[in-house]
This record gives sequence, structure tokens and C-alpha cells, in this order.
Amino acid sequence: MDQQEQKHKRRVRYKGTHPKNYKEKYKELAPEKYSDDVEKIIQKGNTPAGMHRSICVKEIMTILAIKPGERGFDATLGYGGHTLEMLKALNHTGHVYATDVDPIELPKTTERLRSHGFDEKYFTPVPSNFCKIDEVYKTSGPFDFILADLGVSSMQIDNPDRGFSFKTEGPLDLRLNPNVGISAAERLLDITKDELAGMLMENADEPHAEIIARAIISEIKRGRKIQTTTHLKQVISDALQFLPEKTRKEDIKKTCQRCFQALRIDVNNEYEVLYEFLEKIPHVLAPNGRVAILTFHSGEDRLVKKSFKAYFKEGLYKEIADEPIKPSMEECNTNSRARSAKLRWAIKAE
Ligand SMILES: C[S@@+](CC[C@H](N)C(=O)[O-])C[C@H]1O[C@@H](n2cnc3c(N)ncnc32)[C@H](O)[C@@H]1O
Repeated sequence: MDQQEQKHKRRVRYKGTHPKNYKEKYKELAPEKYSDDVEKIIQKGNTPAGMHRSICVKEIMTILAIKPGERGFDATLGYGGHTLEMLKALNHTGHVYATDVDPIELPKTTERLRSHGFDEKYFTPVPSNFCKIDEVYKTSGPFDFILADLGVSSMQIDNPDRGFSFKTEGPLDLRLNPNVGISAAERLLDITKDELAGMLMENADEPHAEIIARAIISEIKRGRKIQTTTHLKQVISDALQFLPEKTRKEDIKKTCQRCFQALRIDVNNEYEVLYEFLEKIPHVLAPNGRVAILTFHSGEDRLVKKSFKAYFKEGLYKEIADEPIKPSMEECNTNSRARSAKLRWAIKAE
């Protein structure tokens, strides 16, 4: 063995609470070992890497009004924060089924919930799309409560390998399940300028949709495939240099956010699966069953509102939210990801 190999390999020094590189955040990525450090990060209003802070927990638990022995469905398991609250409310009675399409996070969350003492008797993780809720229902029977907390988790956004964020270099992927379908990079090779502009408008109300679609397609036509998050950000930024200097930086950031959102919705068929799920909910809810849905952009909220209203008119729901509930100021101040959240609910007729 040469001297180089014998040398003790030192761990990368932890650079305070804000190490630049995701993989250097080993304290945050092991919260069970470094709970004090992780608590400090949360106190400062940040979400530790590898973790997700559940939104509107109190409001959701009030709506769901869980009683011992009930059966529930969490459509979006994520980090398991909401599921854990449901399991605690059931207090080792009843059962929670939870779906998630993410094959990377689902096993970790299952292990975490098992370590809280919730075995197969109380909790069933289902690696599936929530639009297949009727398949779960075939074995579970009717649900007394259902929750969907739509979109992506902080773990997915923060992991540069998943390609969800324009803030870090990574493959332009954006799939919730990287084993299914095509990545956002591949999608851009297979779309016309007009289709792309339409997608940016429809999925994110992007005001610069035409200009950005033209810039993206011409970059690809010049033989420069857009395969990374930072390459897409650069193309967007170059296309928006005509904007007034005073607000340009902020406008580019917002445009990147909207364009990444539009692509994510597209590659994961988010509107189609949400529509299918909403159609099925009243048919899998028990009489007096409660459903709560947390959305993060206007397109999602519109779909939920329309579905709840339509089934209310038909008499399948006996009560629905008049207005969406928004997270408290306090929650928005301590968790910026809560700011765009809207919560709607409905109660199945008897
Ligand atoms: C906002 S996170 C949920 C966080 C969770 N409520 C918590 O407290 O930790 C959304 C999760 O839903 C999953 N998801 C999104 N769309 C889905 C779908 N159509 N079917 C199943 N899971 C989905 C994502 O993979 C992600 O893990």
C-alpha cells in the first residue's frame, strides 16, 4: 500500500450552516445524528437538506378530524410529515395507505415511519401514482380521510442530481420518478417552438413564453442540446437581456422558476394525473369522509376548485371550502415554500 492510500482520509470540513455543495451538508443529511445542528437551521427559517417541512399541518389536521380506528390515504407521502401526524392521531388504531412515485425517497420515508413504531399493521406505503387511488381502494375499502400535498418535496428540489432547481448544476431531468417517461432535456428535443410556448403559457402563465421558446429551440437547432439545469438558465437569461437593468436579475429568477415549473408539470403529466385523481375521490371516500388538497400554483388550484364545486352541485360532496385556506404569516415567514400554498377541502355526503 503506498503512502497516499495509508493517509487518513479526512472528511470535508463542514462549512457552517450554509455549505455551498449539497453533498457537503452531511450534518443535515443525517438529522438523527446531528439533531441540534438541524434544529438551529430550522430556527433560522431554513429547511435542512434531505428534509421536508410539512405545510399547514394544524389546518390539515383540523379538516381531516381523524378519529380512532379510521382508514386514511395520503396521496403524497414525501418526507412523511403529514402521514406521521395522521398515524399519531390514530394512536395505533386504524390504518394509513400512502402513495408516492419517487423510488428514491419512498424507502427512506418508510424506514423513518417504521422507526416511529408504525409497522405493516398501521401503515402501508404504495409505490404508485396517486391517480391509481381506486386500485388501492380495491384492497383497502373506503377512506375516511384523504390528503394530497401536491408538487415536489424539498429533498427532491435540493438534490442537484434530480435536476429540479436552476440554482445548482445538474442534469435537466425534473422527473418525480426518474425511471419512468422522458427527462425534461429529452422533451426539449421533441417539441416545436409553438408547442413549447403554449406549454410555458398553460403550465406557468409565462409572460415571455414566445421569446423563451424561440431561444430554446434555436439553441438546440444550432446543435447545442440543453442537457443541464444551468444551461437552460443561461439560455433564459440571455434571451431576457432586453429587460430593464433595474429589475432584470429578479425577472430572470422568476422566469426560471416558472419555466422549470412548466417543464416539471409537463414531464410528470401533473394536470392529467390530478384530474384523474379528483374524478375518483368521491367514489373512494366513505360517507362523511374528508378530503384536503394543498396546491402550489393557480393551475392546480383551479382544477381542485372546479372538481369540488362540480361534485358539490351533484350532491356527492355535502360541504366544500368557500375560499382556500392560506398558511399563517408566521408559517410563511419561517418557511418560504409555504407562501404559494392554498388549501381546499370537501366532505362526502352521507
Ligand atoms: C410536497 S411533497 C409531500 C410532502 C409530505 N406531505 C410531507 O409532509 O413530507 C410531494 C410528494 O408527492 C409526490 N408526488 C407528486 N405527484 C405525485 C403523484 N402523481 N403520485 C404520487 N406521488 C406524487 C412527490 O414525489 C413528493 O414526494
